[in-house]
Amino acid sequence: MSISAPPLLEMRGISKGFPGVAALSEVDFSVRAGEIHALIGQNGAGKSTLMKVLAGVYQPDKGEICVDGQTLRFASPRAALANGIGIVYQDLSLVPKLSVADNIFLGREIGGGIFVDQQAINARAEHILGDLGVSGIDVRHRVMELPLAQQQLVEIAKVLSHEPRILVMDEPTAALAEEETMLLMRLLQGLRARGIAIVYISHRFKEIMALCNRATILRNGQLVKTITIAETNESELIELTIGERVESFFRHNGRAARAGVPALEVEHLRVGRAVRDVSFVLGQGEILGITGLLGAGQNELARALFGLTVETSGTIKRLGKPIMLHSPKEAIAQGIGLLTEQRKTEGLVMPLAVRANLSLPSLNTFRRALLFLDRRHEGERTSAMSAQVRVKTPSLEATVGTLSGGNQQKVILGKWLLRDLEILIFISPTQGIDVGAKAEIYAQLSELAQAGKSIIVISEDLLEILGISDRMLVMYQGQLLRTFDRSDADEEHLLAAIQGTSL
Ligand SMILES: Nc1ncnc2c1ncn2[C@@H]1O[C@H](COP(=O)(O)OP(=O)(O)OP(=O)(O)O)[C@@H](O)[C@H]1O
Ligand SMILES: [Mg+2]
Repeated sequence: MSISAPPLLEMRGISKGFPGVAALSEVDFSVRAGEIHALIGQNGAGKSTLMKVLAGVYQPDKGEICVDGQTLRFASPRAALANGIGIVYQDLSLVPKLSVADNIFLGREIGGGIFVDQQAINARAEHILGDLGVSGIDVRHRVMELPLAQQQLVEIAKVLSHEPRILVMDEPTAALAEEETMLLMRLLQGLRARGIAIVYISHRFKEIMALCNRATILRNGQLVKTITIAETNESELIELTIGERVESFFRHNGRAARAGVPALEVEHLRVGRAVRDVSFVLGQGEILGITGLLGAGQNELARALFGLTVETSGTIKRLGKPIMLHSPKEAIAQGIGLLTEQRKTEGLVMPLAVRANLSLPSLNTFRRALLFLDRRHEGERTSAMSAQVRVKTPSLEATVGTLSGGNQQKVILGKWLLRDLEILIFISPTQGIDVGAKAEIYAQLSELAQAGKSIIVISEDLLEILGISDRMLVMYQGQLLRTFDRSDADEEHLLAAIQGTSL
């Protein structure tokens, strides 16, 4: 990349408001060809909105967009795509019921005449995924049957198949584990070498330091600074993002599980072919971290503990007594809650208000008499929780669908924290959550455990697992490979274990 190269993309003085929110105020942003440019900022800072203005999803209130020196305005994402602007959105835009191949070629014809040449489509899709270095995805499978990370890879393949000149990735690695992340990094480096201008949105500063040429930081809809990566470091980036010095990150306070009957005992659990003969114990007041490569069975395990899987065998004991978990309802009755990684489909009711989403699962606790909701009590508790998990919203009456991605994730967290459940299972709890709020959420989980709740955190983020867990389980190909105590766990040993070897 030549420093003197004029920017391929230049956005000048962009402003965009929503009811009650100035999402962007006079933001300048430019990207050169052959550059990976990070766009960073806290949840709700305006990152996704800026990119949606670029893509023609939103029209700006003010400002202009130049591509290759030409002022352009896109009426729709389709128009932007036709002009070489491809965006991988934070919330995937795939059609769940269609196959992988059909999703990649949606809206495009292949083969002549009126007949769709399904074989040609499948072959092309396979070719595109192969080019990406992705293996193990059957292009004939419906997208809804794939785990989130594979869906993410399909989404990326779909956008790349249009061969964009400007490529925007809105938190592409949030759902990816170590291996896929590496794959994506290599891919982006290859695209950069071919002269594509890449915008990379992420809350993971290590990735940004390793991958990007420059970074632009947004805070509250305003431009803070554009900075060259070679001239900065991780802590400066974090500081610019939060707007204050970060002294200490989350520190584990070395808690031990309480003596007595375990909160949960899992014996010889099997879930289809995904989980094979797994046994472990969750102590009361303990935070148990479970990690592994993508598809090692950890998500299926969590889903089984919440009654979401059918083909399950083995024994699960709650406070020493065997229980049956055939549905989420039965799980909740046993005091077990699950926060999933699929916020669109499982976590939230998008058209409802933030408040309603927070209180929905807890309605019974807000009922005074049989039918009357205690509105005041509901109001107080939901307001307090929303502040605790730091949801950024113009009001609690705003619909959840208008919140930024990270803020939606905070609402899901808050919703489960509000319920008085004894066992909480979280899959990737801080996926898409900014650095500032992350530490806060870890501290809250720790407090809950201190108060006697038992918590399982499933995450592919090793630093998260190390930072928060009292004990750690590593799964490999559906089996429990190793257990670590806090005292004998470090990144190196965990990394070896998730890959199936032990140091
Ligand atoms: N369609 C919309 N209607 C109303 N408000 C919106 C809409 N889209 C975004 N906002 C608001 O604009 C602000 C910026 O949101 P944006 O999604 O751009 O944040 P972000 O930087 O991408 O955050 P995150 O890291 O959480 O994804 C937020 O306050 C959000 O609530
Ligand atoms: Mg966003």
